[in-house]
Amino acid sequence: CGIVGYVGTRTACGKPLEVCLQGLKRLEYRGYDSAGVALSAPGMDHVAFRKKEGRLDNLVRSIETDPLPLATAGIGHTRWATNGAPSDTNSHPHMSSDGKVGVIHNGIIENAPALKQQLMEDGYTFESSTDTEVAAKLIGKVAAQIIEETGTPDIFEALRRVARQLEGTFTLLATDCRQPNVVVGARHDSPLVVGLGDGENFLGSDVAAFVAYTKEALELGQDEAVQITPDSVTVTDFKGNAVEIRPFTVDWDASASEKGGWDSFMDKEIHEEPHAVADTLLGRFDLEGRLNLDEVRIDEEIFRSIDKIIVIACGTAAYAGMVAKYAIEHWVRIPVEVELAHEFRYRDPILTSRTLVVAISQSGETMDTLMALRHAREQGSRVLAICNTQGSTIPRESDAVLYTHAGPEIAVASTKAFVAQITAAYLIGLYLAQVKGAMYRDEIRGILDELRAMPDKIQRVIDTQSQTIEAAATKMINAQSFLFLGRHVGYPVAMEGALKLKEIAYTFTEGFAAGELKHGPIALVDEGEPVVVIVPPARGRNILHSKVISAIEEVRARGAYTIAVAEEGDDDVRDYADVVFWRPQCPTLMSPLVDVIPMQLFAMDMAKLKGLDVDKPRNLAKSVTVE
Ligand code: G6P
Repeated sequence: CGIVGYVGTRTACGKPLEVCLQGLKRLEYRGYDSAGVALSAPGMDHVAFRKKEGRLDNLVRSIETDPLPLATAGIGHTRWATNGAPSDTNSHPHMSSDGKVGVIHNGIIENAPALKQQLMEDGYTFESSTDTEVAAKLIGKVAAQIIEETGTPDIFEALRRVARQLEGTFTLLATDCRQPNVVVGARHDSPLVVGLGDGENFLGSDVAAFVAYTKEALELGQDEAVQITPDSVTVTDFKGNAVEIRPFTVDWDASASEKGGWDSFMDKEIHEEPHAVADTLLGRFDLEGRLNLDEVRIDEEIFRSIDKIIVIACGTAAYAGMVAKYAIEHWVRIPVEVELAHEFRYRDPILTSRTLVVAISQSGETMDTLMALRHAREQGSRVLAICNTQGSTIPRESDAVLYTHAGPEIAVASTKAFVAQITAAYLIGLYLAQVKGAMYRDEIRGILDELRAMPDKIQRVIDTQSQTIEAAATKMINAQSFLFLGRHVGYPVAMEGALKLKEIAYTFTEGFAAGELKHGPIALVDEGEPVVVIVPPARGRNILHSKVISAIEEVRARGAYTIAVAEEGDDDVRDYADVVFWRPQCPTLMSPLVDVIPMQLFAMDMAKLKGLDVDKPRNLAKSVTVE
């Protein structure tokens, strides 16, 4: 879900609503099952609110036809349904029984049924089936009790008292019409950041919520609560003790999270891939090939002692980790395991102080990855995050972070983050090789040179292949299923290609290792079945090349329609594949950075041709903050 909150100095104006709607627009990638806002202003008897099932546009239209009153404080929510089906009633905000407090929530409150039971015994009634309404009723009840006890409203204290009773995961924001110059928030295992303005302050699930207004921000830690007024920000723990604040400056512009002239964010983000790789490399090594990862605050001595790496990640980030495994094992000669984060901590993994756990996450908020990294740290391993989002939870809870500089990724299907994650993981591998003395300086420099050449090669794929790819997508539009195969680093790329197509074009796909074909999947191949094959470089008598070509022959002999991604100049492929997407020559370990581009473009074209919203595929959210 996406969350935004605002208070400003002007006593009554349209800005809170504007900021909430703007923020929600930028956060819509976090969920689009419903949207809603709640507003407070001096003199209001009840919090004013509106909520609508479906996309944000529905809410905006409803407010245009039936305007909300002017306000000084506002909160807004865009929902990815977890608890209660998408409907107007289940949408956020939810109100306290007296209508004086409006609440929005991200996460799952696990003890909501028990709390609801108690409230019902006290005579409270409920409209929705959500855990959020339970929190809203409870906050309202406690807020009223505080007024009774002290004679003054204190929504901040009410929220903290309730936060102490909640189990599960939550970011909660509340507005109370009796305190129209205040918005309060609390977080436990769910994201929340503060934006610092002049005469106004902001809250958001991530900085995208307010970056159009300010780049100055504060991180909030686990189990912290915050109160913003137009000219103050107070951060405490749930008991009310002051805590240390952690300011940071957002390093990208609001325009980076806008579509510009592009048809879709996905299109824009694919075209940003050359930059994503170049910017991730920038400033991290010198021309002699010496890596300088000072920002990674882990002692060289500790790096030297590392004898195993475990990559934990989900989705696309996990495939980037699989690519990195091939490279790092080859360069550093230490074992690298790649594990889906949600499987990791439930299987009693072997972790020691000499294990380096690399947590890869674009958003920095994926709950599965966060839980896995906490487990790793509890077991005494060091965690290094590869992350694209400043101020997010995963880097904050890791021992160190190497940021990918891909810029904000808005489309739900990950594209530029994938190439940036591979680049960052390669830098970590090379750095380990450097500190462990596993490679000569010249070798490292050679690889860094190869990496530096990749942005232009990515650009070339985009420039030269887009038309062929679109034509292939047009031809394949009615295909019911696709198989993707690759070997070595081409294997994770095949899986990523398959994931893209299922995510956004809703096509049944399977990605697997080409060698596995004869052990089962070939039974699926029938007349006309499309099979996409990632072909490794032919040069240097690469034995894998001929094996992959054999795989193409095998499926073709059984009637498959074959689409190959191959290196320019690979004449063997021309004879065997029905369609070829060409990419420039590069060493095998660099090839995922170019091979994935046609996969992404193909999936995007398929989805567009089917008339689907490529940026917001059904049922998915960009940042999955529940386990
Ligand atoms: C979701 C998204 C995927 C993404 C995965 C991991 O499932 O739909 O595109 O790869 O989460 O996200 P992260 O932010 O941790 O990289």
